[in-house]
Amino acid sequence: MEERYLDFAIEIARAAGNVLKHYMDREKQVELKGRANLVTVADKEAEALIIRQIRERYPHHAILAEESGAFGPSSTGEGKWIIDPLDGTTNFAHQYPFFCVSIGFEQAGEILCGAVYDPCRDEMFSGGRGMGSFVNDQRLRVSDVDRLGNALIMTGFPYGVRDKIKIAMSQFEAFMIESQGVRRGGSAALDLCYTALGRVDGFWEMDLHPWDTAAGFVILEEAGGKVTDFPGNPFSVYGKQIVASNGKIHAEMVGVLRNLESGR
Ligand code: IPD
Ligand code: CA
Ligand code: CA
Repeated sequence: MEERYLDFAIEIARAAGNVLKHYMDREKQVELKGRANLVTVADKEAEALIIRQIRERYPHHAILAEESGAFGPSSTGEGKWIIDPLDGTTNFAHQYPFFCVSIGFEQAGEILCGAVYDPCRDEMFSGGRGMGSFVNDQRLRVSDVDRLGNALIMTGFPYGVRDKIKIAMSQFEAFMIESQGVRRGGSAALDLCYTALGRVDGFWEMDLHPWDTAAGFVILEEAGGKVTDFPGNPFSVYGKQIVASNGKIHAEMVGVLRNLESGR
């Protein structure tokens, strides 16, 4: 893994985070992309800044960005940047301080590094394959909790949850019963980083997008965590479902989801 890609991801995540910080306490013009799916001027400005900087530095790289879509070469051989300029837009729009910028870098089908920046706590999460992961200068290491019954778990709900409310609630109920507690943070990228830091022990969610998970995926794996789909197969950022954990409670988490699936 070339370190320069990670350094660059950190640099542009911080710059975009400063844009979010600028807009944080101001009145927000919120547009609706769907019934509950918001977009603000901050999402757009932060994304424009990130894309501008990537095009300047790496004009031959592909880009996949939440608000602008995919462009550049179709092959990811040279490199592909996967961007969520503001993960946690609903929180941001309500001035609830739990949101971030998430930037992942993929080459030849593998996510190689990523940066997630939380401007409210000034926490820069970063990680690169074979290089470990960090929050600011501190090395990340997942928690030691080895029983789901002792674990604090995070989750999130997709914007289309109203059409899947029964499944979503049955998962929530099962984890409420089996774990020590469940938190719904509102930023999938931070949920993954909090698992990497050991603030929580696991995270699951359905219907995510590559920009929600690309950076957090590599950061968590480099912190010693495990990431799969619901049945426990290897995770792909293009696959939507995610179960992420400190590794020690992973089989139990997959078991909870499997039991629900077989009971349906
Ligand atoms: C959302 C957040 C949220 C998750 C949703 C995502 P956005 O991203 O990550 O935690 O539950 O599924 O869409 O729209 O705030 O970038
Ligand atoms: Ca997102
Ligand atoms: Ca977003």
